[in-house]
Amino acid sequence: MKDIRRKTVRELLSEPSKYAGSEVDVKGWVRTRRGNKNVQFVALNDGSTINSLQIVFDLSRFSEESLKTVTTGSSIHVQGLLVESQGKGQTVEVQAEELEIYGTADPAEYPLQKKGHSLEFLREIAHLRPRTNTFGAVLRIRHALAFAIHKFFNDKGFYYFHTPLITESDCEGAGAMFQVTTLPMEELPRTEDGNVDYSQDFFGAPTSLTVSGQLEGELGATALGCIYTFGPTFRAENSNTPRHLSEFWMIEPEMAFYDVNDNMDLAEEFIKYCINYALDHCKDDIQFLNDHFDKELIDRLKFVVENDFVRLPYTEGVKILEESGEKFEFPVYWGADLASEHERYLVEKHFKRPVMLTDYPKEIKAFYMKLNEDGKTVRGMDVLFPQIGEIIGGSQREENYDVLCSRMEELGMADMPWYMDTRKFGTVPHSGFGLGFERLVLFVTGMQNIRDVIPFPRYPKNCNF
Ligand code: 4AD
Ligand code: MG
Repeated sequence: MKDIRRKTVRELLSEPSKYAGSEVDVKGWVRTRRGNKNVQFVALNDGSTINSLQIVFDLSRFSEESLKTVTTGSSIHVQGLLVESQGKGQTVEVQAEELEIYGTADPAEYPLQKKGHSLEFLREIAHLRPRTNTFGAVLRIRHALAFAIHKFFNDKGFYYFHTPLITESDCEGAGAMFQVTTLPMEELPRTEDGNVDYSQDFFGAPTSLTVSGQLEGELGATALGCIYTFGPTFRAENSNTPRHLSEFWMIEPEMAFYDVNDNMDLAEEFIKYCINYALDHCKDDIQFLNDHFDKELIDRLKFVVENDFVRLPYTEGVKILEESGEKFEFPVYWGADLASEHERYLVEKHFKRPVMLTDYPKEIKAFYMKLNEDGKTVRGMDVLFPQIGEIIGGSQREENYDVLCSRMEELGMADMPWYMDTRKFGTVPHSGFGLGFERLVLFVTGMQNIRDVIPFPRYPKNCNF
């Protein structure tokens, strides 16, 4: 092999005229090999882009024997001349001069042989599925969205605030948390009255994986002004749906001096920014998903960024649903927690655009939401999206010490003096929301199942890989 600096496929294909005519060095995995007695064509992919680079092996130069193990999934290193391609489907190709085989992939064993494996089958081989076009596209888009999120907040002067993953508190009050303990399960230490003796546990108290970084986020916002979190979040609810994961990533901005309207403005701007970023930076990947899975994907993404979201109080939303004449699986009435079918009806059938629902009955929302003057509803806001249902949940927070105390008492919650101190010392109106990262990736990729937009999904009865 000559001493030539390696280029990624993405580099070569993004500026073909710059490199055409020069000797190049490329490395990657073989997607396919085809050809005849005179010439063999290899589609080489290195993950840098959805596009593969065509490598041409002239059989007067390479023996058939030397190419025998150059099969789908094998990894190779090639040097040769980059030339304009005569064939259709690519602008340039490499005329191979040197070949090094890193690793073979026995066709009798390598599971990713033919095109068009089902997504269900690929989920069973999640350790290999990033090598497919579909998952390559999804994972590159996922990366771009994560980057866009940090850029959006950084450009706005928000600080990235790290909240703990192991916690003693239950932010959402839903009660479905994963316990964290080092106590021996077979032989739990007991107190005299027969309860588990948590004083002997690692932290000296019952602890769990966090369901939200919000409570600590509020501590950050009431000091730094505007913060956001972006980290793993855990929920042990037994939800086997295409929208729930047991481990997912959540972005939680929290802003001092924002009321619920400022909060909605930010949520709408934020989500549109992320979708626009993906449209601008992931063109090939989104086009691939549009062509292969969902012909309306690009139109739907453009529609969402070009149109205002509807802002509607819960009470009016319920009225629309009650008068819709639609047969829903779950009953709808004032006070009911809306199911995804109700949310999607409002978004997809009634308004035909994203909806921000506000002012929910306090009974169906978390303790920290600011109570409205009516004493019955709270200043919550959920953002509802086509195909997805709820993508964001947020609210203005109750900043009044006494109101918050009595709400927590009503709910029988344990005291959290450290949280109450934000209301005791220099309390301010503030707001925030949580975006489920995978639900955003789901929307932008047009995939149908949330298990297909995270590399290694965790869900009930599955913690493989
Ligand atoms: O509505 P949630 O439960 O709100 C909170 O956790 C607040 N503390 C957020 C805040 O105000 N800072 O969750 C927020 C979002 C949901 O809208 C949804 O997109 C996502 O997190 N989410 C899930 N995503 C995947 N799998 C699950 N099991 C999810 N549960 C919630
Ligand atoms: Mg919610």
